[in-house]
Amino acid sequence: MPRILIVYHSQTGNTRRMALAVAEGARGIEGTEAVLREAREASLEDLITADGLAVGSPENFGYMSGMVKDFFDRTFYGAQDRVFRKPYVVFVSAGNDGSGALRAIERIALGYKLRKVYDPLIAKGEVTAETLEKCRELGATLAAGCGLGIY
Ligand SMILES: Cc1cc2nc3c(=O)[nH]c(=O)nc-3n(C[C@H](O)[C@H](O)[C@H](O)COP(=O)(O)O)c2cc1C
Repeated sequence: MPRILIVYHSQTGNTRRMALAVAEGARGIEGTEAVLREAREASLEDLITADGLAVGSPENFGYMSGMVKDFFDRTFYGAQDRVFRKPYVVFVSAGNDGSGALRAIERIALGYKLRKVYDPLIAKGEVTAETLEKCRELGATLAAGCGLGIY
């Protein structure tokens, strides 16, 4: 049974809506357990025990949100050599850019030696039905790949 961890932070709800849709997509794959965690509550154990990871952040001042950064700060040492090539995907909610947050998350993921398995999703402005559908697809793809063991 694949376990998918969705770690996110959201101040005004946009990233949260995306995270919920990612979880919904993952749960649509039979047998998947989708664990949705606000970044401030997500633990090293959540990360280690997940088969796949989805990280969601708003872009704040051209970077990931402080809470998502805090999650990485808290788990980095403990995760060393325990998440090698673990599949991950990223989704970002931004006002009009998102590239800085994405770049920062991808850079940190390199340090964890995570393996990106799907194109990142950046939603600019209002979260639309189309964005939510892409989020569901993101979650479903990650879960299906983890379930089949193709990553
Ligand atoms: C403090 C702060 C800084 C922000 N900085 C950026 C930014 O650098 N680039 C951008 O495109 N949007 C920026 N925004 C807009 C947010 O990324 C955008 O509103 C996003 O949808 C918020 O997601 P949330 O509802 O999950 O908190 C910023 C918003 C805040 C509150």
